[in-house]
Amino acid sequence: MSSGGQREQWATRIGFIFAAVGSAVGLGNIWRFPFQVGQEGGAAFLVIYLLFIVLIGFPAMLIEFVVGRHTERNPVGALQEIGAGAWRYVGWIFIATGFVILSYYSVVAGWTIRYTLLGLQDDYIADAAEAEAQFVTLASGLDAIFLHAIFMVAVIAIVAYGIERGIELAVKVMIPAIIVIMLGLAVYVATLEGASEAYSYYLSPEWGVIAAEWQSILPAAAGQAFFTLSLGMGVMITYASYLGEDRNLAEDSAIIIGFDTAIAFVTGLIVFPVLFTAGVAPGDPGAGAIFVSLAAAFGDLTFGWLIGAIFFATVAIAALSSAISLMEVVVSYAIDELDLDRVTATLAIGGAIFLLGIPSAYDLVLLDLFDLFADQILLVLGGLLLAILVSWSLSTLAIEELERGIGDLGSLGTAWIWAVRIPVVLVLVVALVLGILDYYEFLSGDFAAWLEE
Ligand code: PHE
Repeated sequence: MSSGGQREQWATRIGFIFAAVGSAVGLGNIWRFPFQVGQEGGAAFLVIYLLFIVLIGFPAMLIEFVVGRHTERNPVGALQEIGAGAWRYVGWIFIATGFVILSYYSVVAGWTIRYTLLGLQDDYIADAAEAEAQFVTLASGLDAIFLHAIFMVAVIAIVAYGIERGIELAVKVMIPAIIVIMLGLAVYVATLEGASEAYSYYLSPEWGVIAAEWQSILPAAAGQAFFTLSLGMGVMITYASYLGEDRNLAEDSAIIIGFDTAIAFVTGLIVFPVLFTAGVAPGDPGAGAIFVSLAAAFGDLTFGWLIGAIFFATVAIAALSSAISLMEVVVSYAIDELDLDRVTATLAIGGAIFLLGIPSAYDLVLLDLFDLFADQILLVLGGLLLAILVSWSLSTLAIEELERGIGDLGSLGTAWIWAVRIPVVLVLVVALVLGILDYYEFLSGDFAAWLEE
């Protein structure tokens, strides 16, 4: 178990909430969300996504919180404490997922640093094809490896300082900055020519789209809800393990989810007007969206370089506050279970994650290989197993833990458990099956082709 001395704790209530918001708000909101909306049917997707956030995300977040606060352990230790038999090893999936996600998340974060610098040098290219060529050159190779290293150094530096002096302090600066800048950008882009067309695309759903494309909309919305709330990976277990007091976890979750959703929503209010003004179809070209079409659109605007630099710098900050949570999951394990001190653990793990990220910074196909595996398989698998274990065999413990700090929940407690037992589990099973099929397709398609080259 733990090395001597007291387990660290958050200093303030707001510190915990900011840290959880910092974890949730990241590339998922600003990079992934707009292109998911673009690809999956605009406002119709937005409606389904919001529904899943409330119906699936909220109950699932509470599960992680009660496990963390109850055990006061890292995810591996927590699962060893509450699980029996093979369930004792589920925590390992979380650690592995954190390791893999951070390795390529840091590479993408490195791109955001590069695109901040491009803005400052007034180097966005308005021509879409050229912008794409520029992205492909910058996204892999020595430049990408170098920026990946810089980003990892920042992550290591913050996490090495610990919960209160590192993470809590950093997020208290980062979160207000993100909120203010994003709101400011949204107000500015409202003055653009394409704004009203963009709003109606983003905000008035065409219901027919849901009927026609629900098979792809549902899993995409569920996956996005999990990813954006940092669920399925033990982040919320870890962060709740540093809570000493009995607080109202349901209220905290609602606040965290509210902030995360608001930032994603505002991102749409920024991205779509810029794209519509530049005449770019939302959803093109998928994962490259903000680095290709959006950057090209910035290249087209007066003062686009400045808006772009501010935008990408904000994305980099948001990515940093998420990356420290991914790192903390692995570090908390090393401190609790391997008896390492924080600085040694952070340096060793950060170094290893940097090395694991090199392939992703070397070739985009390898980044996809890691991203799809972690995102669509590991994350969903971890979340699913935890949901099954806690809702089906530890429901009394879970309800009691949630009631600490709230008081008697009555039938609401049971309603929560049943929301996890069937809807959450079902959605995750479907997402997992689709994720595995998709991964198989990737392995036999793009990846096989890459190997042959
Ligand atoms: N929620 C983060 C984002 O939206 C990503 C993340 C996933 C962070 C899982 C931690 C754990 O970018």
